[in-house]
Amino acid sequence: MILVTGAAGYIGSVTTELLDARGVGVVALDNLSRGHRASVARHVPFYLGDVGNRELVAQIAREHEIDACIHFAAFAYVGESTAEPARYFQNNVEQGIELLGALLEAGVRRFVFSSSCATYGEPQQVPIPEEHPQKPTNPYGWSKLFVERILESYDQAYDLKFVALRYFNAAGATERLGEHHDPESHLIPNVLAAAQGQLPAVSVFGNDYPTSDGTAVRDYIHVSDLAAAHILALDHLGRGGESSRINLGTGTGYSVLEVIDAARRVTDRPIDIKVEPRRAGDPSHLVANADKARSVLGWRPEYAELYRIIQTAWEWKLTHPNGYESTGD
Ligand SMILES: NC(=O)c1ccc[n+]([C@@H]2O[C@H](COP(=O)([O-])OP(=O)(O)OC[C@H]3O[C@@H](n4cnc5c(N)ncnc54)[C@H](O)[C@@H]3O)[C@@H](O)[C@H]2O)c1
Repeated sequence: MILVTGAAGYIGSVTTELLDARGVGVVALDNLSRGHRASVARHVPFYLGDVGNRELVAQIAREHEIDACIHFAAFAYVGESTAEPARYFQNNVEQGIELLGALLEAGVRRFVFSSSCATYGEPQQVPIPEEHPQKPTNPYGWSKLFVERILESYDQAYDLKFVALRYFNAAGATERLGEHHDPESHLIPNVLAAAQGQLPAVSVFGNDYPTSDGTAVRDYIHVSDLAAAHILALDHLGRGGESSRINLGTGTGYSVLEVIDAARRVTDRPIDIKVEPRRAGDPSHLVANADKARSVLGWRPEYAELYRIIQTAWEWKLTHPNGYESTGD
């Protein structure tokens, strides 16, 4: 069985759905601080609680034969992490250490970790390879980097094998599952909320970056492609593969204005923009060098085009105008 933490969150729920669809036994753990119970199918065993609750994790390991853990659970707002770093280090690092302790005690030695391109900080080179220096510019990025370093030490000392997947920008939806954060800080859901008239305009933070149209460039990766990469990472560890750090992006960047234009075409609705000052610590370009995911994991993203990624998010938005609240759960 695979323990998925943060299984009621955006990426965790899609990965849980995919594991379940492939017939892999999965157990969900989430404290629902930011997730939605409705996003995890009722037949999947669900434990409500903190990943830092060692007794609970030990109980899960007793009740199910856990072979590996995919650890999504974390707080993930850059701005909030700058205002409340203690909360971020407690939730993402301290609780992560307790989770790892409980798993090691239960004999679990395979771990897939949700890391982030935020561990690189201001890029010195784009596309960004995994060997790029890691100098986060905010506590969120540091919390992810600390866990990566802890995993390296645990690999050496306790033979814990891990894959740290450094995601770029997750986007899109499956038929049943989509992105619902409150507040929403991600561009595509906000663009679609504007298309639906739920927001008067989309904020564009900075239009004087050294990019083709002055707005920031990001690498958008479909959430189903992300989920598939987690299963490949589990397969890699299952084959006895070495611990690895791997970027997950498509290798193609799109500017904020390109995203908004694509969303206008997908939705066929007007979307107004409001230009605002740059946000501190927002680099101009964040695009992955995605070669390692292909060579080590054999991963091939199915959604290479931004238009299609946005289309899936829009289809979900039309059926879930208020996210999971639309389902009444
Ligand atoms: N969304 C992205 O673009 C992106 C990019 C890079 C990295 N990541 C990382 O991927 C992971 C998943 O991101 P997401 O967008 O799905 O986030 P999310 O907020 O939708 O999901 C996180 C889930 O973890 C749960 N959780 C948080 N702390 C917990 C704790 N201590 N114990 C138990 N449950 C807890 C929340 O309730 C939520 O359901 C996070 O670790 C995030 O840092 C996301």
